[in-house]
Amino acid sequence: MSLPKRVVLVGPMGAGKSTIGRMLARELGYRFLDSDRIIEERCGANIPWIFDVEGEDGFRQRETAMLAELSVESQTVLATGGGAVMRAENHAVLKKDAVVVYLRTSIEQQVERTRKDRNRPLLQNDDPEGVLRHLFAIRDPLYSELADIIMHTDRKSPRLVVRQLVNRINPKTPRQQRQVRKEGRNHV
Ligand code: S3P
Repeated sequence: MSLPKRVVLVGPMGAGKSTIGRMLARELGYRFLDSDRIIEERCGANIPWIFDVEGEDGFRQRETAMLAELSVESQTVLATGGGAVMRAENHAVLKKDAVVVYLRTSIEQQVERTRKDRNRPLLQNDDPEGVLRHLFAIRDPLYSELADIIMHTDRKSPRLVVRQLVNRINPKTPRQQRQVRKEGRNHV
């Protein structure tokens, strides 16, 4: 089985897309791309500033353009922002020549991992947990629909998630290959 051209990570805020993406890229010998960080570099401003000045719509426009640009790159692992699935026009772009991985994470883990974060404008309010729940209800079906692999991350270290992903993406032993055929796109 040969490696895919690209691996795309989708999932909510706090799923670990950047940490896991960076480690996975190293394992595969691929380049790591982080859509949000590249938007910030290009803009010379951070995401809260972009939301403040251009609104969420302005950010989503930048995100759509960035995903289209990054989706032509080969041998890359791309970490997307949690809202990348919200625009239907992004879906084909994300899927093109890629294995899409949904890092599925409980609300509790999302809350825990984003608790001290000040760089996520959607969570700077009185009820970040309520927002995460609301977004999960809308986005979980979209992430699941797009995904080739649904990887559960709760109670797993990033190292374990990466090992399981490498086995799924590039199964080397006959046993691993049988397992992948059996699981199809099912949950890992
Ligand atoms: C967002 C998630 C963020 C970032 C922006 C909006 C969202 O990325 O793109 O704050 O709509 O869920 P992370 O998922 O990397 O935190």
